[in-house]
Amino acid sequence: MQIHQNYSLKELNTFGIGVKAEYFAELQNIQDLQEAIRNPIRPLLLMGGGSNLLFTNDVKGLVLKVSISGIKVVRESNNRVWVEVGAGVNWHQLVLWAVQHNYGGIENLSLIPGTVGAAPVQNIGAYGVELKDVFVKLKAVDLTTGKLKTFFNSDCAFGYRDSIFKKAAKGKFCITSVVLSLSKTNHRLKLSYGDIRKILEQNKVSQPDIADISKAVIQIRSSKLPDPAKIGNCGSFFKNPETDQTKLREIQVHFPNVPFYELPKNKVKIPAGWLIEQCGWKGKRVGNTGSYEKQALVLVNHGGATGEEVSQLAQDIIASVQQKFGIRLEPEVNII
Ligand code: EPU
Repeated sequence: MQIHQNYSLKELNTFGIGVKAEYFAELQNIQDLQEAIRNPIRPLLLMGGGSNLLFTNDVKGLVLKVSISGIKVVRESNNRVWVEVGAGVNWHQLVLWAVQHNYGGIENLSLIPGTVGAAPVQNIGAYGVELKDVFVKLKAVDLTTGKLKTFFNSDCAFGYRDSIFKKAAKGKFCITSVVLSLSKTNHRLKLSYGDIRKILEQNKVSQPDIADISKAVIQIRSSKLPDPAKIGNCGSFFKNPETDQTKLREIQVHFPNVPFYELPKNKVKIPAGWLIEQCGWKGKRVGNTGSYEKQALVLVNHGGATGEEVSQLAQDIIASVQQKFGIRLEPEVNII
């Protein structure tokens, strides 16, 4: 494992922020990771695809990019297959592999940027499916002892864009592989969320299979989310806030068409993109950053933006949504 000094992270984060790591190394396997742990340079910062973090400064210590590869079937029955995947595998490549093999369960998660190892950290989700729905277990290395530990689904405290790896276990482990359980037959297709049915109709698909759904999700995502290779971004910058029926009714007085999703216990979730748009931010450019013209929830780097600039924009957006609606937005992206 080679340790580089003063290493540019610009190409390694999808926001395209030009910061440097004091030290940087790429991990191809668990032995590399254990070697990095034995090395005294601290702090350690682990990264996958760099698609959910915003660097606001150069990074002190040792940045480790997890590039552990491999997709293999580890267990199989008539109906299901367990697949163990290296943490460094690109998430969308895994989805394409599953679709090609007619393994179902993650087709709605097509085109989500990032790596497989980062997927459990924020329990990635889209179009009615979350990682936790197919997740069996993962292996992670304890960054203090260098020992491997297994976390089963129930150990991970999965929630909406949340897990133990954002809370009690934050910064303490490096996920090295993930096992998912996928269907081989009788796939449970999820079509009811968002525009999936509409797109399938447009594509003249009446009896969709998992490949049709993956294709529809790719179409929807590419039509409203910017491609990080062209415009730096991290997808949704904020979580959709949870509030209650009283707040919803208050908003409905002035905005009868406010979109919302019902949650258990009288709670509702209001799309952050809608709130941000109502505050006039959608498509607005501030210096080199701004809110994306087709989806207000996505903050973008128009070129040359600093992390500080994006972070300032995020704070201004939080303040104006708070002022107009009395709702506090929380970033989904890790700000470092
Ligand atoms: N909306 C607006 N203005 C906007 C954007 C959205 O009014 O600028 C409204 C839409 O009209 C719609 C509602 O907000 O009524 C929801 O919009 P959308 O379907 O685009 O989904 P979202 O709630 O904004 C979430 C996830 C996305 C995921 C989609 C589809 C979060 C924070 N984001 O977005 O995840 O792809 O649903 O399932 O939960 C990500 O996490 O990076 C991400 C892209």
